[in-house]
Amino acid sequence: MLPGLWCVMEPYVIRVRGDTVDKPRVVLGVSGGIAAYKACELLRRFTESGHDVRVVPTASALHFVGAATWSALSGNPVSTEVWDDVHEVPHVRIGQHADLVVVAPATADTLARAAHGLADDLLTNTLLTARCPVVFAPAMHTEMWEHPATQENVATLRRRGAIVIEPAVGRLTGVDTGKGRLPDPVEIFEVCRRVLARGVTEPDLKGRHVVVSAGGTREPLDPVRFLGNRSSGKQGYALARTAAARGARVTLVAANTGLPDPAGVDVVQVGTAVQLREAMLKAAADADAVVMAAAVADFRPAAYASGKIKKKDDQDPAPIVLVRNPDILAEISADRARPGQVIVGFAAETDDVLANGRVKLARKGCDLLVVNEVGERKTFGSEENEAVVLGADGSETPVPHGPKEALAEVVWDLVGHRLT
Ligand SMILES: Cc1cc2nc3c(=O)[nH]c(=O)nc-3n(C[C@H](O)[C@H](O)[C@H](O)COP(=O)(O)O)c2cc1C
Repeated sequence: MLPGLWCVMEPYVIRVRGDTVDKPRVVLGVSGGIAAYKACELLRRFTESGHDVRVVPTASALHFVGAATWSALSGNPVSTEVWDDVHEVPHVRIGQHADLVVVAPATADTLARAAHGLADDLLTNTLLTARCPVVFAPAMHTEMWEHPATQENVATLRRRGAIVIEPAVGRLTGVDTGKGRLPDPVEIFEVCRRVLARGVTEPDLKGRHVVVSAGGTREPLDPVRFLGNRSSGKQGYALARTAAARGARVTLVAANTGLPDPAGVDVVQVGTAVQLREAMLKAAADADAVVMAAAVADFRPAAYASGKIKKKDDQDPAPIVLVRNPDILAEISADRARPGQVIVGFAAETDDVLANGRVKLARKGCDLLVVNEVGERKTFGSEENEAVVLGADGSETPVPHGPKEALAEVVWDLVGHRLT
């Protein structure tokens, strides 16, 4: 057991006051892109997890999905204009009362109108009156996304504190592929959930580039076998998701995880420790912070058999000769790509957890080391974690047993503190 109790996150939960249930109020803005149908899935995620959702589509969005669908799924009235139910002053009230506004998909046109403060429909009025966190999930063709006008509008919105999730790369409206696809609604929901949980309107990692490694490396012996470890990658993915929800540009170097890409995160897939090192050094070159959450094999087989190693009935198996893998955390810590870059390592220990952690922190030369106790049924693959974050300045921050995202939030709090 690791010591200490430290409350890390004020959960946004449904508050019950007497007979009334106070649900978090979400405005789901939907603009006129082909991905509008995916917003139905996002809407369901919100309603099924106890949120009160008011859908505010643009007039163009209704060409793709009709008002009846939004109204039936949300249980709330739907309007695109400021002229309906004027006695309730919806052009002001909807934004004022929201706990979160998310626009998904956000078209190039809606991003432009939002960036320029136009108020020519109910959605843009709502964006001007909202004082809660605002998330945009743009989706459009690559050319539209890359156009300097769109990029400047995105930069303006981010500067003002909105979270603009980077579009995913993949199949677009027609046969073409590229950057501009709406991320998976489940992943957009995860970003929104974290933004709501933090409840702050100013994302503290905005303008920062952070690099996270996740998963476990596999060191091949032959075309079918490898030496690997039990790391699932869930802690690294939680770190990537929480950083994106706090406004950072995130590069996730993922080793053998099989997990879905987090929304708005650049994912680089790798297999071995050598590949992971290469990807980390490249991404770290302009990073403000690097978090090494991946379980990297210390050793790899000295030789790789190009054909499957055969079992021979009359012979004992040949011993496997191992060679050392590069120590990526020590290397990144020693050769920081820029002054003030914050480096975080993870140490999975089975015994003498804190003492071993302190020794490792000194040896690696990083700023923070997240030390957790692992075992066959502990931490690996689980949704939860428990750790102590050791600081090179002698600090010790215990994080009690809880979701991996809670530990991730503490890590970013400590990183953010060091960055400022
Ligand atoms: C079939 C079709 C698909 C479209 N898909 C997109 C899209 O994915 N992203 C986008 O920015 N615009 C897209 N557009 C263009 C927008 O619908 C158009 O710019 C519209 O004025 C957007 O209005 P709104 O931002 O008020 O919803 C599409 C248009 C059509 C006809």
